Amino acid sequence: MAFTLACKSEPKIHRCRRRGSAAWAIGFSCAERLFLSACVAFRFRVMAQRAPLVMRPLLVSFALIGMSLTAPAILAQKVALSVDESKAEAKIDRNIFGQFAEHLGHGIYDGIWVGPDSTIPNTRGIRNDVVAALKAIKVPNIRWPGGCFADEYHWRKGVGPQRVITLNPNWGGVIEPNSFGTNEFMDFLDQIGSEAYVSVNVGSGTPAEAAEWLEYMTASQPTTLAKERAANGHRTPYEVGYLGIGNESWDCGGNMTPDYYVSQMKIYSRFVRNYNPAQQEKRQMLKIAVGPGGGEPRWTDWTETVMKAYQHHSWSWDLNGLSMHNYTVGDWDHKFAATGFGETEYSKFLKLTLGMDELISKHSAIMDKYDPEKKVALVVDEWGAWYEPSPGSNPGFLVQQNSMRDAVLAALNLNIFARHADRVRGANIAQMINVLQAMIMTDKEKMVLTPTYYVFKMYVPFQDSTFVPVIFDAGTYKHGDISLPRVDAIAAKGKDGKLWMEITNIDPNEPAEIELNLNGISAKSATGETLTAPKVDSVNTFDAPNLVVPKPISAKSQGGKLALKLEPKSVTVISVEQ
Ligand code: AHR
Repeated sequence: MAFTLACKSEPKIHRCRRRGSAAWAIGFSCAERLFLSACVAFRFRVMAQRAPLVMRPLLVSFALIGMSLTAPAILAQKVALSVDESKAEAKIDRNIFGQFAEHLGHGIYDGIWVGPDSTIPNTRGIRNDVVAALKAIKVPNIRWPGGCFADEYHWRKGVGPQRVITLNPNWGGVIEPNSFGTNEFMDFLDQIGSEAYVSVNVGSGTPAEAAEWLEYMTASQPTTLAKERAANGHRTPYEVGYLGIGNESWDCGGNMTPDYYVSQMKIYSRFVRNYNPAQQEKRQMLKIAVGPGGGEPRWTDWTETVMKAYQHHSWSWDLNGLSMHNYTVGDWDHKFAATGFGETEYSKFLKLTLGMDELISKHSAIMDKYDPEKKVALVVDEWGAWYEPSPGSNPGFLVQQNSMRDAVLAALNLNIFARHADRVRGANIAQMINVLQAMIMTDKEKMVLTPTYYVFKMYVPFQDSTFVPVIFDAGTYKHGDISLPRVDAIAAKGKDGKLWMEITNIDPNEPAEIELNLNGISAKSATGETLTAPKVDSVNTFDAPNLVVPKPISAKSQGGKLALKLEPKSVTVISVEQ
């Protein structure tokens, strides 16, 4: 009796309803199908018990057939991916894997710089453990010294034996010792094998100050500034790959109107020169203007104004990139928590992050009007998750934990950048160490690598690879009124000649069974790594640093196609053997 009642009730569990599954096709949820299946079995069992002996085997068969028809699709959802290597497209610029290190909280001090006298193992004051970890993810460039900090930074206070002690009014009003300055930054880049993306001070500095800074860094002839650099330990000129002309000049960088900024930007573009002989023909320094900070109309105007100016630029100034800042945050006054959340916050936050695609499309379309040849790169030089600060931390230090949700978020954004590879040729996640969506967290001598770090490590083969389109029906993962694609994927031909694929299973509950078809080419096998975790908010901590770490994964060939089962909420990178 109780069982009959249960069968008549309408369970409201809809988690398993997925496009593409049999359950979806006939409009029942998993729970409903489970009940239905049990009902069918129960009915036939009762009938079989009452029926004459000869009829019983037949009724039992009916019971089994009925159960198999109504049983829920509790096995993994199937997703067919099709890749055509002959359709290779734009280069996925390694610079989309760039990092951002601002003088903010423990991003620089304690995170990178401990000083030569520290008991923490270091090389000329720079932490050895951090250097080793960053080398492994092949950081292409680091944006420094800010951020908002950049528009109050005066480089002279951070060179030479006598550093000037100042304050950091943007970030907690703490002491800025200036012990990590130009030479230390360049030494750090040298130790990890990365390039300099230097943001010059437009807000409170002058073009002359910025021009002299560049002369100090890059002049090879014996100018007074070049000699000063040599006296400070570096005779040969430094390379500066990227020059940021201001930061958020519409806001913390000086509250400028677009027109005012453009007139400033032209002056900086003209006079802030790179003198390094190695950068005159090849590897020329790319100049990046301040761009939009979100989807509001004021930023549409900003992009229009800068790009219109670019369209009419003369021989005397040039531009190679337009910056874009876009954090995943939701409501700035009521931010999400970085930990202690469930599926609702997981799905809502990931929905927000997918807005990156629309924003890039919107600003790319404006850029296309004035620069149809796509000479100016869109550089998303601040992106990532921004949560409530960790309890007990200084709110001005922007300390937050980093969970499995952030790993999925990172993969989704990197895939968006890759799909826009023709225009997006740079991006810098905010920020590298101890701040916002960090790769690394430190506490005195301790260091832990975050789930986001592992995503960047797994994506190394995509640096300077060639994008290859993937065709797939992503399906739908639904939670409450939030709908998301169930899976996301990109493919690329690596510099090593191999075909690389990334597949994210966004669904936190169900595995995904991937069938990979290489359009005529027979795939032998695939191997790689997969990153998942027990819960959506699982994190690595100093005490338990290996909860969210990648594990090996391999795919088998079935009739020339590859079959791969992906865990729920997972990020997977594989290379395909043909
Ligand atoms: O990354 C933290 C801050 O966010 C940066 O300093 C600023 O550019 C942005 O608003």
